[in-house]
Amino acid sequence: MQPIVCLIQREVDIYVAVGRGRELATALGFNTIDHTRIEIAILELTRNLLVHAGGGEMIIERVTDSKGLAGLAIETRDQGPGIPDIALALQDGYSTARTLGAGLPGTKRMMDEFEITSEVGVGTQVRAVKWVSKRREVPR
Ligand SMILES: Nc1ncnc2c1ncn2[C@@H]1O[C@H](COP(=O)(O)OP(=O)(O)O)[C@@H](O)[C@H]1O
Ligand SMILES: [Mg+2]
Repeated sequence: MQPIVCLIQREVDIYVAVGRGRELATALGFNTIDHTRIEIAILELTRNLLVHAGGGEMIIERVTDSKGLAGLAIETRDQGPGIPDIALALQDGYSTARTLGAGLPGTKRMMDEFEITSEVGVGTQVRAVKWVSKRREVPR
């Protein structure tokens, strides 16, 4: 499968990306809760592209681990100002935009793998993966 590339330049692009992620999550057989986690992660990371980087792109793709387990990877790339202190940006409540500061730490918690690389003046990449879980989570 080819990676899905979504240009994020306007608010509506966020919802298109969420929709594309939802389609792939359905095709991969994620449970309802993981489905929601993936959608929120796409929403938060793409919103960060608009708010903090002046736009960018999101890549959504199916991945497989060494044992053949399927997963969904999301990655944002931008050429915004970069993040000078990544550890600080990952703290709950830290925001340079006076918003909730929950997007990055929340995405890190909701996904199974999470990494940020950023260079000031060059841009930022965020990559997160969710593996299809065989474990059943019972909603409370
Ligand atoms: N793509 C990005 N480019 C530059 N800075 C970013 C980017 N994404 C996040 N940041 C920085 O990390 C901080 C925390 O992000 P986040 O947890 O999503 O909270 P919020 O978006 O509410 O500020 C942001 O306030 C911003 O300073
Ligand atoms: Mg945010």
